[in-house]
Amino acid sequence: MEATNLLYRDPELYDVVQSDSTSAGMCQALIESYRPDARTLVDFGCGTGRDLEILAKHFECIGVDLQPGMVDYAHRTRPGLDIRAGDMRTVRLRRRMDVVTCMGNSLAYVHDNEEISQVFATFAAHARPGALLALCSPVAPLTGPEPVAATVDTSTGPATVTIRHEWDLRTQINTMYRHWVLPSGDEAQDEIRRRVLFPRELERYAESAGFEVLDMTDGTGEGLTGSTAYTVARYSRG
Ligand SMILES: C[S@@+](CC[C@H](N)C(=O)[O-])C[C@H]1O[C@@H](n2cnc3c(N)ncnc32)[C@H](O)[C@@H]1O
Repeated sequence: MEATNLLYRDPELYDVVQSDSTSAGMCQALIESYRPDARTLVDFGCGTGRDLEILAKHFECIGVDLQPGMVDYAHRTRPGLDIRAGDMRTVRLRRRMDVVTCMGNSLAYVHDNEEISQVFATFAAHARPGALLALCSPVAPLTGPEPVAATVDTSTGPATVTIRHEWDLRTQINTMYRHWVLPSGDEAQDEIRRRVLFPRELERYAESAGFEVLDMTDGTGEGLTGSTAYTVARYSRG
């Protein structure tokens, strides 16, 4: 499968771009609040394993990702982690864990309703009774003045990226278009298509798979104010 996201073709740059992410810390705080006795964790769509590296200090972890390039990079740079190639729509590890995570918008890369149901069935198949599910996903389209330009410090110098979004209400796909000027002077374009699941919709997918939603938060303490949310749910079957 050819990666349209430039960062999937350059996982090192992916890690640089994500280096200020707080999602592992947020995930840990949610586990501490809702499942403080958790010992085992599986992360679907774990990418380069940047969150797992932090979480593995506290839990026995397995990560799963679809992109061979991300998995190979994770094996090379984080050899102590248990990261496996797999598709979260279908993978079965034959283990049930205390915590199931899907961070960094990974769920949004699955666009089709039926396939989203399959992903939630995967979450359920890996959850012990009472397990915690922690998801970070887009719950509203990104809006705001655009295009936005930013500089990213890479190991070979600064890259600049200019970003704009398009929103298709019928499919609920938010497409991000990026134009990169790399330190070499080369230019590249990429686009990322993310499916937005609005909060009630997300709740429905979770409940249909046997999860009771406990909280949806963007971490500000003010409810949902941004376009991305952490959803916390408990597996109530089993
Ligand atoms: C934006 S990255 C987030 C990675 C990681 N969770 C993080 O926060 O750094 C999205 C990841 O989801 C993975 N992904 C997309 N669809 C997937 C699927 N069906 N099964 C497993 N992984 C998938 C991609 O390969 C990519 O690594």
